[in-house]
Amino acid sequence: PEEGKAEFDLNVQYGKKEFIEGQETNTLGYNGDYLGPVIRVDKGDDVKINVNNGLDEPTTVHWHGLEVPGEMDGGPHQVVDPATSWQPHFTIDQPAATLWYHPHLLHKTGEQVYKGLAGLFYIEDEQSKELDIPKEHGVNDIPLVIQDKRFSDNGEMPYELNMRDVMNGFLGDTVLVNGAIAPELDVKNEVIRLRLLNGSNARSYDFNFSDRSAFHQIASDGGFLETSIEMNELSLAPAERAEILVDFSDYRVGDEIVLRDGNDEVMKINIVEESTDSSDIPESLVDIVEYDREEVVKTRRFVMSGMGPMVAINDKQMDMDRIDEHLNLNELEEWVISNDSAGMGMMGETPHPFHVHGVQFQVIERNGVEPPLNEQGWKDTVMVESGEEVRILAKFKQKGLFMYHCHILEHEDAGMMGQFLVE
Ligand code: C2O
Ligand code: CU
Ligand code: CU
Repeated sequence: PEEGKAEFDLNVQYGKKEFIEGQETNTLGYNGDYLGPVIRVDKGDDVKINVNNGLDEPTTVHWHGLEVPGEMDGGPHQVVDPATSWQPHFTIDQPAATLWYHPHLLHKTGEQVYKGLAGLFYIEDEQSKELDIPKEHGVNDIPLVIQDKRFSDNGEMPYELNMRDVMNGFLGDTVLVNGAIAPELDVKNEVIRLRLLNGSNARSYDFNFSDRSAFHQIASDGGFLETSIEMNELSLAPAERAEILVDFSDYRVGDEIVLRDGNDEVMKINIVEESTDSSDIPESLVDIVEYDREEVVKTRRFVMSGMGPMVAINDKQMDMDRIDEHLNLNELEEWVISNDSAGMGMMGETPHPFHVHGVQFQVIERNGVEPPLNEQGWKDTVMVESGEEVRILAKFKQKGLFMYHCHILEHEDAGMMGQFLVE
């Protein structure tokens, strides 16, 4: 393609996939049976995407984490009817990041994502190209889309919500990595970059390695952190992303390490070849200019409450015809997001990962204190546990109508979502 221009086709289609040997599962996918291609663009690119809906139901395609005008955002207003196309176009104007795309049809997001509609969206820039980190896609720079499913006896993945699913969101008992159950990854004994997306409807993960070895987080939802952060365990809420570097240089050919969620196996990593590369983990990564709280023009509060079908934000449920908040372009705002479900007793104590469209924000406080280091980079989704209060600073650089919502998709579909207009 021409320099600075990028065009992609995304065909939304029905698929069939053998997740379990000998059993065929009905799925949805983009350009294939399950999930979608990794879309890779550079900062500054003019991007055009041809979304063709081959389903016999409507869908939308939302670019989660991208800062694009409201009418290109792919939210519930940009419906793509069956056998029609939608051609969003936008210029990439934000730092290198691992973003993703998925449907956002009103009341149907949970089902369409669950059946397989999701894909990664990478932005690269000067810095991501210059940093001394692994960059070979599929070799030492590995995309990992983590999801949980429930298979029925005949191998299908029915999306039927029982009362517990309505309350907590749809939780599976089988973890998929890039659409595979318990896959194995073969690598050399060197530094490996894993780009993790929690693409699950409702489950949060606590990632760690079976030998409890340390790893380094280098990027959060919206791009690189200022410095790499050493950790032994990483929590990811639905829709959150993290890039981590794992140094396998002390391992030998034949060793195996298991990526786990708590104590549960997610993926086996096999060291299959001696590396000739000797790169380490860089300490300093990029500069992030911190927003100045003194410049906040407007403070807004978002209280998440209720349970099951009654979940709400500021006591309201999503109404396509109601604009909940009016914002001014390029003004710094402070949003105070709280989760009021604690008062409801054990049953109601639900975590709510809060997501805002069209912006990458900075988390400045979690329960009155500085957030953990790995929340101090660009974020578009932030976990708010029962009883917690999180403060973020955000500057909206795109005009149009956008959503904020809980990213437990069953909560979103039940109405835990609102709309804001940036003018
Ligand atoms: Cu990832 Cu409004 O969504
Ligand atoms: Cu989004
Ligand atoms: Cu929620």
